[in-house]
Amino acid sequence: MRDKIKIGLLGFGAMGRTHSYAVSTLDHYCENLPFKAEIAGLYSRTREKTIAAVETFRFGRAAMSEDELIYDPDIDVIDICTPNVCHYETLKKAIAAGKDVYCEKPLCISRTQADEIAQLAAEKNIVGGIVFNNRFLPATLRAKTLVDEGRIGRVLSFRARYLHSGCASPDAPLAWKQSRDICGGGVLFDLGSHIIDLLVWLCGGIASVSAKTQIAYPLRRGQDGKLHPVTGDEAFYMLATLENGACGTLEGSKISTGTNDELSIEIHGERGALKFDLTEPNWLWFYDVTKPSVPFGGERGFTRIECIGRYEAPAGGFPSPKASIGWLRGHVMSMCSFLSAVHARSRFSPSIEDGAYVQRVMEAAYHSDETGKWVDI
Ligand SMILES: NC(=O)c1ccc[n+]([C@@H]2O[C@H](COP(=O)([O-])OP(=O)(O)OC[C@H]3O[C@@H](n4cnc5c(N)ncnc54)[C@H](O)[C@@H]3O)[C@@H](O)[C@H]2O)c1
Repeated sequence: MRDKIKIGLLGFGAMGRTHSYAVSTLDHYCENLPFKAEIAGLYSRTREKTIAAVETFRFGRAAMSEDELIYDPDIDVIDICTPNVCHYETLKKAIAAGKDVYCEKPLCISRTQADEIAQLAAEKNIVGGIVFNNRFLPATLRAKTLVDEGRIGRVLSFRARYLHSGCASPDAPLAWKQSRDICGGGVLFDLGSHIIDLLVWLCGGIASVSAKTQIAYPLRRGQDGKLHPVTGDEAFYMLATLENGACGTLEGSKISTGTNDELSIEIHGERGALKFDLTEPNWLWFYDVTKPSVPFGGERGFTRIECIGRYEAPAGGFPSPKASIGWLRGHVMSMCSFLSAVHARSRFSPSIEDGAYVQRVMEAAYHSDETGKWVDI
């Protein structure tokens, strides 16, 4: 592998900006990397925005199509930051062309698509990665270490939640993430994929799920000012059993009034318990059953003051004010880890297979919602 990794970036919305930020700041955050990386080309749907971004951020060039980057022998990695419905065709072409791929979640919009991509990636022996950036925060990495060291023992129960409030108002406009045509699903895909991955990473595979989805406002105004049907779920509620026998819940919502970007996970085991809350990303809560018991008491109760990423001017809207401190760093470390794998020709985790697994769980949840029955994974 060359010492300079050349990336072809597709899509320049929130995540295209985030990934290019990660690439351009790698050397600020990480020391002595054995490689350099650059965004050698950008293709996004709107031509003017592509050209403006290339000029502003000094990317290599503005491409006229994604194929121009996929079939350019000088490009090593295709980085996919387009809406979900685009991922499958792009992945198929890029992997077939022998490119390494870094793809935003969810991997695809169906289990069939995702399994095909995982198979293709394995056959072509490329380095593939999916962006489950929450694995790259200091607190979740520490949680993984504690679990792997057996410090919480056999997992008994869990609850994972990812709550937003973007759709809590009936006046919130219709965006592509509420449209199944483009999102492929709804909040289950958008937020659920993150917590399914975190749970499986920390606790092991899921055996079966029972789920219910919800659309609170079936009609919303689009860009054209007209009312359109909302086809992507605005919330989901899932019961799950793990292969190791543990039971628990996963919940994702964009109709949770008063929330910002609130991912939390609690895991209760025989020897201990872990709690993590993305809005307090500096802390991981750990309960150790093996410590001597002491009487309860003292000063109890919490007051939480909302500060998160809300800076005053001259700070702008990037990263989003709803994103807590640390969110961006998880992206930078995810990108660093992926590019290190590309450079060393080694396996990256979370892998394409991890993305395909999450797709399987989400599809089972929708199937359960439709049939009212438990669905095995
Ligand atoms: N990991 C995370 O933290 C995270 C957060 C948000 C979104 N995402 C994922 O990132 C992806 C992009 O989401 P986003 O929030 O950046 O969306 P966005 O709407 O902000 O940006 C999408 C960009 O892709 C462009 N685009 C649309 N169709 C295209 C095509 N066919 N070819 C090239 N460009 C095209 C649009 O013009 C836009 O610039 C989605 O898969 C989403 O699920 C991940």
